[in-house]
Amino acid sequence: QDGLKAELLAVALEAAHRAGELLRDGRPDDLGVAATKSSAVDVVTEMDIASEKLITDFFADRRPDDGVLGEEGASFEGSSGIQWVVDPIDGTVNYLYGRPDWAVSIAARAGGETLVGVVHAPVRGETFRAVLGRGAYVNDRPARVRAAPPFDQALIGTGFGYVAQRRAHQAEVARELLPRVRDIRRGGSAAIDLCDVAAGRLDAYYERGLNPWDFAAGDLVAREAGARTGGRPGETLSTELTVAGPPGLFEQLQTFLDERGAWHD
Ligand code: IPD
Repeated sequence: QDGLKAELLAVALEAAHRAGELLRDGRPDDLGVAATKSSAVDVVTEMDIASEKLITDFFADRRPDDGVLGEEGASFEGSSGIQWVVDPIDGTVNYLYGRPDWAVSIAARAGGETLVGVVHAPVRGETFRAVLGRGAYVNDRPARVRAAPPFDQALIGTGFGYVAQRRAHQAEVARELLPRVRDIRRGGSAAIDLCDVAAGRLDAYYERGLNPWDFAAGDLVAREAGARTGGRPGETLSTELTVAGPPGLFEQLQTFLDERGAWHD
């Protein structure tokens, strides 16, 4: 399987770099909102759509038998058993405002397992990549989580959904957490948040209600860098709840979130 994983990694890296170049160099100065999704603040730009098209066209050319699931609607079953999970811009609101933290996120999955994950953040000049069982890298350096600090010294990343009711509950959970930890960061890209855990720039991260394209690649990068990831205690990471952190802190954060019902709205 090593040959297959190497091929998938090469394809994912090339697709992510091509899309990243289009997004960085082709961002119109007057970029506006092309459509909205779950709420008026859940936006899609013309560049999300252009990036997804570039990536799916690239896969159709290089790996025509693979399936694709993309944030902006790409959905193709395929016959090879490989499925690509694509977020053409993770951190769309950052991209819209010209903030640097956005990324192209691409994962290759087979049989319920993620084999390869790439999170390419062009303005940061960073590409995170991981291959199942082969470690994680940020550019060419191995990525490694920080050792778990005591809970009250942890820097925790999180994010918020786009629907007001969900946000209200997320704010309550964050209000409980803030006095108990070093600080909280809201970066604006779940994929980069997971990679920041992998690179030791956050101690841990959690968010309710992510979609597979937000977390698929970053989850593998975080795990291959030594993090644990999951949902509620004993459960795997899912659209319900995503938690990532080093052993010890991860379980403490999971328990804290579970006790406060962070997995529901
Ligand atoms: C969003 C980002 C954000 C997270 C949201 C996601 P998008 O993805 O990852 O950080 O808080 O829940 O929807 O819409 O920019 O691809």
